Amino acid sequence: MGIIKVAFATGIFSEFGNKGSLPWQGHPHQKEDFIAFKAFTKDCVIVMGKHTFASLPCKLPTRIHYVLGREKVTAKNGAVADAYLTTGSHDIDLESFCRSLAKHHDKDVVIIGGASLVRKGLDFADETMYTQFHNRTGYKHDVSMPLLPKYMGEVTAIESHGENESYMNITYYRRKR
Ligand SMILES: NC(=O)c1ccc[n+]([C@@H]2O[C@H](COP(=O)([O-])OP(=O)(O)OC[C@H]3O[C@@H](n4cnc5c(N)ncnc54)[C@H](OP(=O)(O)O)[C@@H]3O)[C@@H](O)[C@H]2O)c1
Repeated sequence: MGIIKVAFATGIFSEFGNKGSLPWQGHPHQKEDFIAFKAFTKDCVIVMGKHTFASLPCKLPTRIHYVLGREKVTAKNGAVADAYLTTGSHDIDLESFCRSLAKHHDKDVVIIGGASLVRKGLDFADETMYTQFHNRTGYKHDVSMPLLPKYMGEVTAIESHGENESYMNITYYRRKR
């Protein structure tokens, strides 16, 4: 049976999303974040809210897409998800839901957004990948996700790229059971 993971990014002022996209579009080290995200989610089941799925250009290869929300939205290229949970209730037990997916598919499950699902997932995720983009004046945003004080586990690795306004770092956490 797989484990539960969370992958997300913010700016240093908790910026999370902007107009259906990422606030740090065009950051010189965004590519490194994509590469790390790809490795962290490869062959996994990915769980997301409907706005996050609608923000993807297409389905991500090798991943099984589960989308929460009342409407069955598509990715930007019109691709449909592998499964939709359209009950409309936001009170589902997200941990039990994710653990049952891990058991059913015998794969790791990664919560990839949006803000409320990530916040919930951080309470129980076995592993987390958190990218922080540094911009002293902040990024324009319409979705934010204040992070602290959330316990995400012990730090297992940190990757840093760039300097000053082009700086970003990726921190990996593992929760001790
Ligand atoms: N920084 C990052 O790491 C990151 C990651 C992903 C996305 N983003 C960005 O963030 C924005 C989208 O995120 P978002 O937070 O606005 O939206 P989202 O979570 O992707 O979608 C929100 C919708 O998902 C459904 N939903 C959410 N939680 C649910 C729950 N517990 N149970 C059932 N349904 C649930 C609801 O649909 P109904 O109202 O129909 O019930 C809700 O309106 C975009 O700008 C995207 O580019 C950023």
